[in-house]
Amino acid sequence: MEKRVIDVACGSKMFWFDKDNPDVEFCDKRAIERREYYPGRYIEISPDTVCDFTALPFPDGTYKLAVFDPPHLKRAGEHSWTAMKYGVLKGDWKEMLRKGFAECFRVLDDDGVLIFKWSEIQVPLREILPLSPYPPLFGNRSGKNNSTHWLCFMKPQSRKEP
Ligand SMILES: C[S@@+](CC[C@H](N)C(=O)[O-])C[C@H]1O[C@@H](n2cnc3c(N)ncnc32)[C@H](O)[C@@H]1O
Repeated sequence: MEKRVIDVACGSKMFWFDKDNPDVEFCDKRAIERREYYPGRYIEISPDTVCDFTALPFPDGTYKLAVFDPPHLKRAGEHSWTAMKYGVLKGDWKEMLRKGFAECFRVLDDDGVLIFKWSEIQVPLREILPLSPYPPLFGNRSGKNNSTHWLCFMKPQSRKEP
């Protein structure tokens, strides 16, 4: 079966109901075997494909749905649970996210949908939205202090020659 969905930064797949869904291409730049990081706290990152969301190894127009939940913290203890679980924004992270958005839209089919998650604990969403080539259609806030945004985008149809 050809997979219809891609998660470009799946981490430990916490928000997935079926972490082995065969319809989903799970990607992350890290793979970590299951281990106890703190007493009683386990981490496992097991993507189908280890890759960088700034250069996805998939052809244009492959997927119907893309999921993009990149790291959202600039500051977190180097060896902290948070940094281990979610990753940290380093260097020219805005350019990294810009390329990530572009790659998500590239691998989406015409009319494909992108679900983007951003927690604005340290960086407000208004700094992130200009990094996407297209604006979101709608969104919803949740979590502590309503700081987590779930946004829905749709890729415009490519112009067809008459
Ligand atoms: C916020 S976590 C994702 C959490 C995930 N959605 C979940 O439900 O558990 C962000 C993930 O992005 C990954 N990541 C960071 N930079 C990346 C990049 N350039 N390419 C691919 N994955 C990246 C990190 O390794 C981390 O696992």
